[in-house]
Formats: sequence, C-alpha cells, structure tokens
Amino acid sequence: MDRHQDTLYLRIADQLAGSIRAGTLARGERIASVRELARQQGVSMATVVQAYRTLEDARLIEARPRSGYFVAGRAARRLPEPDTTPLPSQSQPVAVSSMGSRVFTMALDPDFVSFGAATPGEELFPYERIRRAVNRAAQRHRATLSRYPLGSGTQELRRAIARQALSMGCQLDTRDILVTGSCLESVSLCLRAVTRPGDVVALESPTYFGFLEILESMHLRALEIPTHPRQGLSVDALALALDTQPVKAILAVPTLSNPLGSSMPLAERRRLAQLVAQRGVPLIEDVIYNALCEHDDQRRAVRSYDDSGHVMLCGSFSKTVAPGLRVGFVAPGRWSDQVQRLKAVHSGAHTEFLELAVADLLTQPGAESAYRQLRTTVAARVDEARGIIAESFPRGTRVTDPPGGFILWVELPAGSDSMALFEACLRERICIAPGTMFSTTGRYAHCVRLGLGGRWEDAQRRALRRVGELAHLVLPAAGGEA
Ligand SMILES: Cc1ncc(COP(=O)(O)O)c(C=O)c1O
Repeated sequence: MDRHQDTLYLRIADQLAGSIRAGTLARGERIASVRELARQQGVSMATVVQAYRTLEDARLIEARPRSGYFVAGRAARRLPEPDTTPLPSQSQPVAVSSMGSRVFTMALDPDFVSFGAATPGEELFPYERIRRAVNRAAQRHRATLSRYPLGSGTQELRRAIARQALSMGCQLDTRDILVTGSCLESVSLCLRAVTRPGDVVALESPTYFGFLEILESMHLRALEIPTHPRQGLSVDALALALDTQPVKAILAVPTLSNPLGSSMPLAERRRLAQLVAQRGVPLIEDVIYNALCEHDDQRRAVRSYDDSGHVMLCGSFSKTVAPGLRVGFVAPGRWSDQVQRLKAVHSGAHTEFLELAVADLLTQPGAESAYRQLRTTVAARVDEARGIIAESFPRGTRVTDPPGGFILWVELPAGSDSMALFEACLRERICIAPGTMFSTTGRYAHCVRLGLGGRWEDAQRRALRRVGELAHLVLPAAGGEA
C-alpha cells in the first residue's frame, strides 16, 4: 500500500467516526456497503475495507453476516451534561492539598487500574517510530550530546512548531518561539513574566489542578470564571470580572479544557482575543489538546485572532507525540523578552537531540495520520466509557461529551461524596480523581474526573463499572459512607 492510500483510509475512518460521535449516523444504523462507499468516495474497495477494519477495531461499527456494516449498537442511555456552576465572585488564595501528587503517583502505578491521570498510555503511541527518531537524532547530531545547548531551541523544532501552529490558524515567527521542557513550564514562565505574588489570575472553573499547584507555589490568587461544559469559558463573566477585580492574567484552555473537555465556539474565541487586547490583560492560552479535537475548525487558537501580542501561546507534545521526551514550547507575544530571560535564568536551553527527535516526528509524512489514529482510538473508548457510565452509575449522574481527548467529567447526584468514592476505589486498587482537586471553591465535591488515556481492556471496563457501583454507596441517601 502506498503512502497516499495509507492516509486515505484513515481519513475515511476519521470522517465516519466523527459522524457516529455527532449522532449523524445513529447506533444500529446500516452504513454504506464497501462497494457503495468506494464509489461515493472515488477510492478503491481495499481502502474502504481498511477504513472499516479500523472502525471495527475501535468498536464503532460492526459487520453482520450477510447484512453489511452497522453502527455498533451499544444502546447507551444518553446522560445529560453537567451545568455551569454558579461561583463566588471573589478571588481565593490557593491551597491545594497534596492530592494532586497522590493521585498522579497512583495513577501511574501499574498495580492500579487507573482513571486518575490525564495521561495517554504508552500503547497509544508508535513506540518504534519514536525510538527510531531518537536514535537517528542522537546519531546524526552527536555533537549536541557533548556541548551545552544555547538559545531558544533548535531551528528545526521551532520551524516544525511554526508549521504546526498553522493548523491552529497562527502565523508564528520562529524567532518568537521558545522551546521548553513541558507545557507546564511554559505556563509557569508566562505567569512569572506577568504577575507578582498576591496578584489575581482568572481561570476556568473547574480547572486543571496542575494550574492550581503553580498558582499556589507562586502565591497567586485564583479567580474562577463560570465555564460551560461544552462552550467553555464565559467571555461575558470574564468581562465582568475584569471590570470588578484586579485581574493580572487569564489562564485558559479554549480547546478541550481539562477537566470539562469544553471547546469555545469560534465567535467566543474572537471576542476573547478582542477583550484581552482592549483591557491590556495577558491571556495565557494552553493549546496542549488542540490536535486531539475532532473538529478541524475548533483547533483554531484564540491567538489566531490576536494581533496585539496579548495572547501567550503555550503547548507541548506530551499528549500527542511522545510524552516521555518532555518537549514543550511558548510563543509569549509581547512578553517575549521577559519570558526568554526567565527561561535562561531558571533552566537554560533544552536537550537538543530530543528537540531534533520531536522535530523529526512532527515533520515525518505519517505525522498527520498518527494524530488521526489517536483521535479515532480515544473517541471510541470515550464513547464506550460513556455507555458504561450510563448503565452503571447512579440515576441523576451527568457526564460531559467532549469533542475529542480522553477525559470525562462526571457529576454525581448532588450531595455525593467524591472523596469517599476515591477512598473506596483505592481499596479496590482503582484510581480516580475527585472533583475537589479542580477548584479552590469546594464546589465540585460531588464530581469526578476520569482519564481514559491509559490501557483500555476488559479489566478497565470492569473497573469502571465497579466505580459506578461504588458511587451508589456515596449517595447522600445511602448515608454518605462507602
Ligand atoms: C491543560 C493541561 N496543560 C498542561 C498539562 C501538562 O503538560 P506537560 O506534561 O507538557 O507539562 C496538562 C496535563 O494533564 C494539561 O491537562
């Protein structure tokens, strides 16, 4: 099979997966025969067969003997989505407990069935391709191993990042890109450049606990802004907050936020870019999940609407290319000099041969199809997990339906105790992330974040059902004890 065919079958599988997840093709519905689809798409029957096999592997479709192909018929009871939470309008000092590192350590412990981390498992990445890229980089650029790296990162990687940023609608100058060791390092550098201890930072609610840990370590205050589970950060609420509070920076994940998986509509992204430019407040935009979004247009960054330099773009390849290589980037806009200086002082330049390996992986011909494969694989398991939640969690449970990624946010009936559920799960060697970790407000004590990036086999399906059974024991009517 040539390279063109190789990407073609994935493109067809990806389109169909999108239609199934959007509900355009309903569960149980018959889909086009191999011959029909080959004719419609102007491709060979072998290409369609390969696309259908990919969808079968992902359990999105099934072949029925002598009848054809059908959308897989798990008649999942559809659950409603969580609501936007009303929030206090004052900023809070951040004092997150050690829960984050406790959960993260257990989530990576092979003795646990893990839904605790937002980390993709190793089986999602093409190990051989990564190994070859690292070996090639170390061999071809031997000299980089025995000299100090200098500057903002290798030109090869910055060029690859600039090219990838085009898919987010951003035209970046390679001179404005700084390579870092991770997305969190990028975010920390940006916060350091634009805030001082005691300042207020506005962010989504609920928000990624890693952000809260950074805020705490820098003695910053968090102002949580109402965030819709599908539409993301409320720009109206943010504008009001900017009118009434001394907000020094905004930190947001407009595409597939963590933990909600929300993705802001394009018009809201434009409004957000206009708002930060008018008010002169920096927006630190985390784009770590953009490549995982199923809708091409929603990969567009807020930065693409900004020509004032107020949007500081942060990202990494931890969720999409090779988590172990630890390579991230920042394009700090008008705070470029400050961020470059801080980076030089705090950690210096990054490991060149690893940057070159990532540049290689990003520019190889198979890079786009690897993303597509990743999106299709995680979409199928998220879909299946939603079905299991609908079947086994208590009545009144709500769950998000994100357009990509591998995180679900589950809202248990009001009054449920997610800490008690967390402890009950631990006794059975299952790790989940209780909702309290994702806010300074204590509003999400009845919520749970489930990370589905790790292994996904029968043991995980059984464990998720078991979490649902245990959730019945932490309902307020059952006495709140697990
Ligand atoms: C929104 C968000 N940003 C950043 C990170 C961390 O990325 P990195 O490992 O590159 O620091 C995560 C990981 O869960 C995340 O969810």
